[in-house]
Amino acid sequence: MDNNFSPSRPNRKQIPLICRLLSLRLRRRLKATRWHISENRSNQLKLFLYHFRNGDSYAAGRLGIEIFDLRDCPPSGFFYAGRAGRKDGIVFHDEHWIAKYPRTTRDLTGKHLPLHTSSPISEYLGSHIYHLLGIPVHETVLGYREGKIVCACKDFTWPNKRLFEFKMLKNSLSDDEEGFSSAPSDGESIYLPDVLSAIELSPVLRSIPGVRERFWGMFVIDAFIKNPDRNNGNWGVLYSPDGTYELAPVYDNGSSLFSKRSASLATRRLDSPDELEQDAFGTNVSCYRLPSINNPKGIPIHPFSYMESTHNPDLDAAVVRFAERVDLAAIDELIDSIPEEAYGIILMPDPVRTSHKTLLRKRYEEGILPVYRRITTG
Ligand SMILES: Nc1ncnc2c1ncn2[C@@H]1O[C@H](COP(=O)(O)OP(=O)(O)OP(=O)(O)O)[C@@H](O)[C@H]1O
Ligand SMILES: [Mg+2]
Repeated sequence: MDNNFSPSRPNRKQIPLICRLLSLRLRRRLKATRWHISENRSNQLKLFLYHFRNGDSYAAGRLGIEIFDLRDCPPSGFFYAGRAGRKDGIVFHDEHWIAKYPRTTRDLTGKHLPLHTSSPISEYLGSHIYHLLGIPVHETVLGYREGKIVCACKDFTWPNKRLFEFKMLKNSLSDDEEGFSSAPSDGESIYLPDVLSAIELSPVLRSIPGVRERFWGMFVIDAFIKNPDRNNGNWGVLYSPDGTYELAPVYDNGSSLFSKRSASLATRRLDSPDELEQDAFGTNVSCYRLPSINNPKGIPIHPFSYMESTHNPDLDAAVVRFAERVDLAAIDELIDSIPEEAYGIILMPDPVRTSHKTLLRKRYEEGILPVYRRITTG
């Protein structure tokens, strides 16, 4: 092969044509830039200041997944509940989707909060980690709508299914059932033994294969992605018009991966081994609690200590499934596929990217692997 290939010089006749093509290209590029700047003027300014503060050049973000332009998607006419930010039913590619927006933090307490959460990125990453681990999960893409980066989630009930959240199934239990710490019909109760008893007693859940596997699978994966929000409204079953039930795909992963943390705080905490330990395990608390005589609110469960100290065959099986399936290189690739910026908005600064990868690796190596070894070597 000729490695010394060099393009031949244009001849005199070709020069005016080349000049015309170049000027046309330049005009098009200027037009696109003008449009981009006027469309996103304040985002562009924020982006410029961000790069200026960080001492690097004002460069476009790394190439990665497509951030879909959802501005022109019409409303679907469907509405959704939830406390973690606005949702907007939209029609995208002829199907019903939910655009989940970042939530304002102005009414939240806590230090160093950013103006908005990064829950759309958390929803996207958390959901794709579930997918990589082989668990059915709602389909998600990132997009741009009404000046924000949103996570669009395909509505798995559309066109004719209905979601019944676990709390509704729990509410149907008779209060005469024995052995519950709070009323069996209390749909919101997150005492772990009550939740497990409700799974055993609910006729609908008993009729669906794999409910316990799903429950403990979510327990382990939520610990891995630090999702404290798998409450009784955040999983459930789908009802079809033919009268059958199936487990709904996993949904609501928007609170995972520190969705309320500013980039500057993530950067600072990366430098401290103690703070990394806290972030991986210390502050990693499940939404479930254990009943306690001394504490009416119950005792919070730290999922990694719980996995280490509890001998429950369903939990052990979930740990084994996780450890034998997880692919940290694929998870790193997923995290790297988020562009640094899009539409003039910062999606993921490098320290946040590094923080996600470091914490996930730490939770796997120091949290899950030792439990896996204990289970498999006896
Ligand atoms: N992909 C989906 N398809 C259909 N319905 C969905 C989907 N995702 C969420 N929902 C419904 O919308 C509700 C709100 O969504 P989600 O739980 O993600 O919101 P949230 O604001 O994060 O909630 P929370 O108050 O639990 O933090 C869910 O409880 C569920 O009923
Ligand atoms: Mg929810």
